[in-house]
Amino acid sequence: MITNTTTETAEAVKNPLGLKKIHHVEFYVGNAKQAEFYYRKAFGFSRIAYSGLETGNRETTSYLLRQSNINFVLTTPMGPEHPAAEHIKQHGDGVKDIAFYVEDADHAFNESVKRGARAVVEPHDLKDDNGSVRHAAVATYGDTIHSFISYNRVGGPHPSKGEGSNGANGTEGNTSSAAGTTPSAQSGGHPSLNKDGSYEYSGPFLPGFVEQNVEGEPTGLMLIDHIVGNVELGKMNEWCDFYRDVMGFHRYITFDDKDISTEYSALMSIVMSDGQHNIKFPINEPAEGKGGKSQIQEYIDFYRSAGAQHIALLCRDVLYTVGKLQENGIEFLRVPDTYYDEIPARVGEIDEDIEDLKRLGILVDRDDEGYLLQIFTKPVEDRPTVFFEILQRKGCKGFGKGNFKALFVSIEEEQRRRGNL
Ligand code: FE2
Repeated sequence: MITNTTTETAEAVKNPLGLKKIHHVEFYVGNAKQAEFYYRKAFGFSRIAYSGLETGNRETTSYLLRQSNINFVLTTPMGPEHPAAEHIKQHGDGVKDIAFYVEDADHAFNESVKRGARAVVEPHDLKDDNGSVRHAAVATYGDTIHSFISYNRVGGPHPSKGEGSNGANGTEGNTSSAAGTTPSAQSGGHPSLNKDGSYEYSGPFLPGFVEQNVEGEPTGLMLIDHIVGNVELGKMNEWCDFYRDVMGFHRYITFDDKDISTEYSALMSIVMSDGQHNIKFPINEPAEGKGGKSQIQEYIDFYRSAGAQHIALLCRDVLYTVGKLQENGIEFLRVPDTYYDEIPARVGEIDEDIEDLKRLGILVDRDDEGYLLQIFTKPVEDRPTVFFEILQRKGCKGFGKGNFKALFVSIEEEQRRRGNL
């Protein structure tokens, strides 16, 4: 195993598709009205925009939820004919679209298809009374897609005429030069938030949505740190190649089964990142455990395909955020209390009181550059599929390798209780 946990550095390079950051994540869910209530009341998102029968959308109902820079869209089909109905039948509630804000959706689509992506939605305008945006989409693992969304400057060249150039809007937006590991590195919203009419679209989110403000009580969630994809046994390298060759990412960290194997729950993982480290996608595949079923295989069995496993949400004060989320009823995985006895020796000096971490069940890990604090929710559906990670980075760029063992023992305990080990 020569790939053991290497962090590969790469200079900040411009993404060949013009990807800037994650625009939003869209979930297909069985009942968006109730899911919206859960994400608003429990996670503290605010409802910002709505699309449904009242807005003339007879096919789906969608809610845009936002907290700081995190945008989640919850979509439900209004009838069995809509493809979302089949998606929900197959996968249960899950992530359909990890949508990118790009410089030029036409360029991102044409270039990615040229590099081997499967086309899902040809570039087109999304329009309403507030103006238009360009949208296209390509497939990734399972039934998951990546949308490309770009905003046109009023008076600037239409992206469809740009023929792959970076266009007049190439320097707009919030492409940060920092590694994207602190919330401030990506502060600010999308151009869609501008109300000054300087863009062709001035509405609340995307054409088709109307503003609908229902305030949640924020819990301090700031930014999507990474989104993990679970793929089938033997497919990890194929999907890492896809993110390298098609999306222009590079290998950021590799974990092999020595890092992340317990008696049963072995997995392999490679973290792919864009050149600016704004977008990080770890890809997991199951590894052979000692006779039990890998947690990745459990996910795939219940999701019925590859798919997004967890979304890691960055916060500034993990004690505050996790305290709030627990008060609100979010259920987290817990490790044995003995884990906390070993923190001083393993991690050294930290700012937080270990008793506070223990009370809340927060885990700590360190790398050369600092430490991180993290915790994982239980799956947020009845099927053991999608869950969330809440994390705070204090310099550390890693993913909590030192916690894998303790965490996976706890995951196995949950699997055992589900009869899936
Ligand atoms: Fe994670």
